[in-house]
Amino acid sequence: MSARRLAAGLLLVLLAGCQDKPAPAGVQGDAARGRVALAQHACRACHMIPGITGPETYVGRPLVDLAEQRFIAGRLPNNQANLVRWIRDPQSIDPGTAMPAMGVSERDALDMSAWLLAPER
Ligand code: HEC
Repeated sequence: MSARRLAAGLLLVLLAGCQDKPAPAGVQGDAARGRVALAQHACRACHMIPGITGPETYVGRPLVDLAEQRFIAGRLPNNQANLVRWIRDPQSIDPGTAMPAMGVSERDALDMSAWLLAPER
């Protein structure tokens, strides 16, 4: 293999690495798929989310460093199961919250949580 082809191959591997952020240890779900699901459900309309472009918005908090947070929405101890619960039905946890239940499937919520719990890029 020529040096040039080798370099091109390496570049591709590096680029693929940027796209496909591996989920941190212990976190279930497919983070890359979660990123797509977050975009498809327009969570970005209310939250700024690392890795997803959109307007500046502060209806909900920016979802950065979520893994470092102790509580979800100040209500639930932060773990992946509770994050999935919140994403699927925030009204059942905090009936007054401005965040609507958006009909997110269990799988989509799990994958979303994998993206949100991954360390900062
Ligand atoms: C209409 C605006 C709106 C939309 C759309 C929305 N959210 Fe929220 N979200 C909020 C608000 C407001 C809060 C703060 C709730 C509270 O603290 O009671 C919140 C809280 C959260 C939290 C807890 C944040 C923290 O710092 O504790 C997470 C996680 C979250 N939202 C994820 C999502 C996801 C994932 C989606 C898409 C499925 C989504 N949100 C869609 C408004 C929204």
